[in-house]
Amino acid sequence: MWWQRLERSLELNAEQPVSRFLQLATVRADGRPANRTVVYRGLLTPPQSTQRWVSFVSDARSDKHDDLARCAWAELCWYLPITREQYRLLGRAHSVSHDDPAAWLAEARRRAWERLSAASRAPFFGPPPGSILSDNAPDKTDISADTHGIPDTFCLLYLVPRRVDHVRLASAAVPVPTRDVYVADSDVDTTSPLTWRVFHVQP
Ligand SMILES: Cc1cc2nc3c(=O)[nH]c(=O)nc-3n(C[C@H](O)[C@H](O)[C@H](O)COP(=O)(O)O)c2cc1C
Repeated sequence: MWWQRLERSLELNAEQPVSRFLQLATVRADGRPANRTVVYRGLLTPPQSTQRWVSFVSDARSDKHDDLARCAWAELCWYLPITREQYRLLGRAHSVSHDDPAAWLAEARRRAWERLSAASRAPFFGPPPGSILSDNAPDKTDISADTHGIPDTFCLLYLVPRRVDHVRLASAAVPVPTRDVYVADSDVDTTSPLTWRVFHVQP
């Protein structure tokens, strides 16, 4: 399935830190696209499910959250330089905040925070992303944190893929370029098992 391919591709590209960076495209309020780089934080497997969701982390005050609150459809795009592959994952993205009712997601958020370095944690205690910095701005921003010390601004985000488009460019290992498109049988976001169909298409 696509996630086995993706995990194998990530292993083969592991020596390149850039292979953990991917682009997340959303739709702005005015219908224009927005795109930015995020760091891949692993696949989530919901309990009693065979699905795989793609996770990353973000500041709840950033624009992407406003975009996703209006339109949850988003696309991730990944280029893996060693194996010369592209993955595009289309689906709905959801955010997990400190008070998420799903305990396993709240726990995944906590684990994601624990894995962050001090430098990566610091901005979540700072001014909102995109705010104008001026010399006379106050040093401190008032941000509440839970009992684990995790600020409310910290969000785990995950994308529930519904279509995955995988392109392999020609290389020494791949004489002919390939493109496989995986399509889920349902558009509804549930944790129930999904059937995926794969199409080998012209790149
Ligand atoms: C290499 C790299 C990695 C980044 N990783 C993340 C990330 O994991 N999460 C995130 O929210 N922003 C990350 N950013 C910053 C975003 O690209 C973006 O500037 C920020 O999230 C604000 O985007 P927005 O205003 O569209 O929400 C990263 C930027 C770079 C250059």
